[in-house]
Amino acid sequence: MMDEICAHIADLVVNSISAGAKHIKVSIEKSNVKNELFVKVSDDGKGMDESTLKHVIDPFFSTKTGRKVGLGIPLLKGTAETCGGSFNIKSIQGKGTDIMASFQLSHPDLPPLGNVKDTILVLSISNPEVDFFFDIKNDIMSFTFNTKEIKTLLDGLPINSPEVIKFLKNYLDEHLDFFN
Ligand SMILES: Nc1ncnc2c1ncn2[C@@H]1O[C@H](COP(=O)(O)OP(=O)(O)OP(=O)(O)O)[C@@H](O)[C@H]1O
Ligand SMILES: [Mg+2]
Repeated sequence: MMDEICAHIADLVVNSISAGAKHIKVSIEKSNVKNELFVKVSDDGKGMDESTLKHVIDPFFSTKTGRKVGLGIPLLKGTAETCGGSFNIKSIQGKGTDIMASFQLSHPDLPPLGNVKDTILVLSISNPEVDFFFDIKNDIMSFTFNTKEIKTLLDGLPINSPEVIKFLKNYLDEHLDFFN
């Protein structure tokens, strides 16, 4: 179900959007030097109160009504810890939330990264009202994708219009060749 790191990232972004975030920063850093994959999602959503924060790593806790089980965050934490990495949440009510996870790159249980380009594209075009900042790095290269900047350049043309989607797809293909 959640066997790709990109699916976890998308899940964190969905949480941020549910929390009312308007600005979301996603960092993905793959370092062979450090033998580490690092991911972080930061938002300016409503944040978590103390009891949510305390319970957020418990798979039987969710503030969603009508269902009892929230699996997103506990699964990510479990995967990070299984893969010799770490997991951390910082959340301030009324300010926002940072969630970060790291994994040993060489760990045999590390799930596949998944398709970073498609993840960036799909998140950006399906949430046109949110400003995304993606920061993608390895030991040698880095790439940033800032949808606020892109929307300014588009001068009123929607980021989810077919011609823009086609352009962004090509742009990401070209610039993210170094990653994955
Ligand atoms: N970025 C965030 N900002 C504010 N609250 C958050 C954020 N991420 C998670 N939460 C809180 O933590 C709870 C647990 O999140 P988690 O993703 O594990 O489960 P869920 O979103 O409730 O359900 P699922 O992801 O399985 O659909 C959420 O219900 C929400 O209350
Ligand atoms: Mg969730």
